[in-house]
Amino acid sequence: MADPARILLPFDDQLLTLPESGDVLYIRPPAILPQDFLEFSHIVCEQGFKPFSDCLTQENVTVVPTALGEYPMVLVALTRSRAENMANFARACRMVSADGQVVVSGDKTDGIDSMLKTVKKVYEIDGVFSKSHGKVFWLTPTTPAPAEWELAMRPKRNAFGYMTAPGMFSPEKIDVGSEMLTAYFDKSVKGAVADIGSGWGYLAKNILEKCERITSLDLFEAEHAALEVSRANVIDDRAAFHWVDVTAMDKPTEPYHTVICNPPFHQGRAAEPAIGISFIAAAARIMKPSGQFLMVANRQLPYESAMEAHFKHWEILEQNKAFKIIRARRPLKR
Ligand SMILES: C[S@@+](CC[C@H](N)C(=O)[O-])C[C@H]1O[C@@H](n2cnc3c(N)ncnc32)[C@H](O)[C@@H]1O
Repeated sequence: MADPARILLPFDDQLLTLPESGDVLYIRPPAILPQDFLEFSHIVCEQGFKPFSDCLTQENVTVVPTALGEYPMVLVALTRSRAENMANFARACRMVSADGQVVVSGDKTDGIDSMLKTVKKVYEIDGVFSKSHGKVFWLTPTTPAPAEWELAMRPKRNAFGYMTAPGMFSPEKIDVGSEMLTAYFDKSVKGAVADIGSGWGYLAKNILEKCERITSLDLFEAEHAALEVSRANVIDDRAAFHWVDVTAMDKPTEPYHTVICNPPFHQGRAAEPAIGISFIAAAARIMKPSGQFLMVANRQLPYESAMEAHFKHWEILEQNKAFKIIRARRPLKR
């Protein structure tokens, strides 16, 4: 588990000092900032994951999905994607002012050691602090980072013709479970449709192509970068794109006829069925009583009791060793 306070340790030990003026930029901060961040007079958080962004906003912190401009200090927290981490580091070096410092914190399991090794080949490091199965290192970049570090995160067309980028769900190949779900995109799909957790838009593009009775399709996705790239994959006047935490969605004024979903099943490294269960509850909240919910899930994930709790009727339409396709109807009022 990442230690959100680790990045502050070099400040506590006076190995690092805050800039006298200007905003400190924090790229990919945790959802909740440790109390000591209150000492930072101004902090701008770049957080593209909506649930975290919403939590930070409640703490009265300035949050943007993508930061621009120049900052006297830039903090970077690692994610699970090495390509994203190298790109964020390169952007930090580009956005920090002359003589400003870049501070990076990450767990061993997120690759902080190998990242530090790579960075050391290009830059002199000002300091390193090891704590809680991870490290913080900091430096004063005097030259731009190698261009390929940032370029690796630029969206590219994959072998199947879709625009994707590293760190997104299944960027190189179409997910087998998602592909299996598209077999159920038939005449029963009509009217207003919602794709919850739409990623880079695979399901959305396919359902629009197959189902001409759809009048509108709302794509709901928490990762800002994935939502942005889905605009290039889903080119259809019926599509609308929303940066949203699906688990926090309220009942809409116009509920949906069909809700489709391949739910996320982890937020850290471990599989967490709780997220998928929240997606099932959200689907039941946002659909019409006469509508349908079509979902694909990893076969071993225990979603059956959530289906029972939220829908009057549900059935497994198909399953194999890896996946199951579930259709649910008649959402229960809760
Ligand atoms: C398993 S992927 C499916 C993506 C796409 N529908 C497909 O089939 O290729 C689940 C998606 O849900 C998104 N996600 C995770 N938590 C979310 C949340 N709280 N609200 C909205 N989307 C979320 C992830 O970023 C990811 O793109």
